[in-house]
Amino acid sequence: MSILRIGVLASGRGSNFQSIIDEIESKRLEAEIALLITDNPSAFATERAKKHGIEYLVIRPKEYSSRDDFFAKIAEELKKRDVGLVVLAGFMRIVGKPLIDAFPNRMMNIHPALLPAFPGLHGQRQALEYGVKISGCTVHFVDEGMDTGPIIIQAAVPVFQDDTEESLSERILRCEHKIYPEAIKLFSEGKIKVEGRMVRIKGYTPFDTHIVNPTIKER
Ligand code: GRF
Repeated sequence: MSILRIGVLASGRGSNFQSIIDEIESKRLEAEIALLITDNPSAFATERAKKHGIEYLVIRPKEYSSRDDFFAKIAEELKKRDVGLVVLAGFMRIVGKPLIDAFPNRMMNIHPALLPAFPGLHGQRQALEYGVKISGCTVHFVDEGMDTGPIIIQAAVPVFQDDTEESLSERILRCEHKIYPEAIKLFSEGKIKVEGRMVRIKGYTPFDTHIVNPTIKER
C-alpha cells in the first residue's frame, strides 16, 4: 500500500501540526505531509513547515471572488499533490462545500471540547463557564456543519475548580497532541470505517486513550 499523503490546513500557532510532524519524524506514524495550506501569512505554522522542509502555500480568501472559489482552489492544490487525508489543525474557518465534496470522510478536525458539547469558538471557555467537571478534545470527520461530523476519538481531562481558560486549554492541548496523530495513524492503517454517524475502528479499545497522562512534553 502506498504511503498516506497528508494535507494540513492551519491558521495559527500550529502545535497540532507539530505533533503530527514529530510522530512522522520519529517513525511512529507512517505518512508524509505533502503540503501545508494557510489562510494567514503570519501563521507560526509556516515557520514549522520551513524548519521541517514541508511545502506550504498561503491562500487568502480575499483573493477569490467567492467562498466557493477559495475552497475550490484549496481542493485543487491538495488534489494536485495526491493528498489522501486533509487535516484541519486550528484552521479558523467553516469548510466550504467544494472542499468537503473533494474529500468525503477524508478530512479531519480537532476540537477542544467533548463534542457535541461546546462546538464553535472557545470550547474551553464555554466548558468552564458551563461548570462541567470533565472536558476534553474530539477528533472528528468534517461535514458542512460547525463541529458536527462523525466522531473518531475523544479524550477526557478533569476540570479543576481553580482552572482558568489558559490552564484548562493547556491540559486539553496535551491530549490533542496525543489523539490527533493517533486518529491519523488509525486512518493510515485502514482501520476506520464510517457508517452514517458511527465511526467503527478495528481493534479499538474504548478508554485506552481517555484521561491522558498530563506529563507529555510541550510542543
Ligand atoms: C486547538 O485548540 C484545536 O483544538 C483548535 O484550534 C487550536 C489550534 O491550536 N481547533 P494549534 O494551532 O494546533 O496550536
